[in-house]
Amino acid sequence: KSPPVIAVDGPAAAGKGTLARCLAESLNLPYLDTGLLYRAVGRRMLDERLDPASQSGEQLALSLRPDDLKRTDLRTPDVDRAASLVARDQAVRQALVHIQRAFAAERGGVLDGRDIGTVIFPDADVKLYITASARTRAERRYMQMAGTETETNRDAAISEVEAALIERDRADATRAAAPLRMADDAVRIETDNLNAGQVLAEAIRIVKSVL
Ligand code: C5P
Repeated sequence: KSPPVIAVDGPAAAGKGTLARCLAESLNLPYLDTGLLYRAVGRRMLDERLDPASQSGEQLALSLRPDDLKRTDLRTPDVDRAASLVARDQAVRQALVHIQRAFAAERGGVLDGRDIGTVIFPDADVKLYITASARTRAERRYMQMAGTETETNRDAAISEVEAALIERDRADATRAAAPLRMADDAVRIETDNLNAGQVLAEAIRIVKSVL
């Protein structure tokens, strides 16, 4: 039997990346953060003064190089927005399908994103859908960012992060091309009351019950 493919989908900042990386490590499988592909295309559009809302990133997606994914400036708020905008473009998505399928073709893999279980690997061996309330996700994202805000600004800063997450989820879930959606055969993990270790333990339990 070929090595397993594990799909990890869900909304922004749900902890998919942390889970998928740890899961890959414990199962000794390759790991791919597919959001980086869209971020890299969005980043290059901004660099080249192209408008991701009105111009196509297809050529940039087709010419993506491994080094583009290693850039350290892919997680800024403007790249969050640009990535979500380029991700609406079916031509961009099509250009990135091959990279994602080829990645797991030989050695299997754990891939995290929005459409892994629905579009990229509809026959994935295990499909996880990781989610949490928008407030929880915003708090976690806020904690990740080097917070220089004072205590009084904390709530306002979290609310701002929360609003941006909600808007990006809305855009990702309502677009025509590969919208964010839980696959019918995915297992949902609600992480509001779980820490990273508990989410990993739950995921491993699910994987072992299926594989
Ligand atoms: O996961 P991350 O937040 O890095 O993804 C950035 C953006 O890329 C998402 O908001 C979404 O629009 C897009 N994306 C996607 N399909 C994926 C992964 C990411 O459309 N599989």
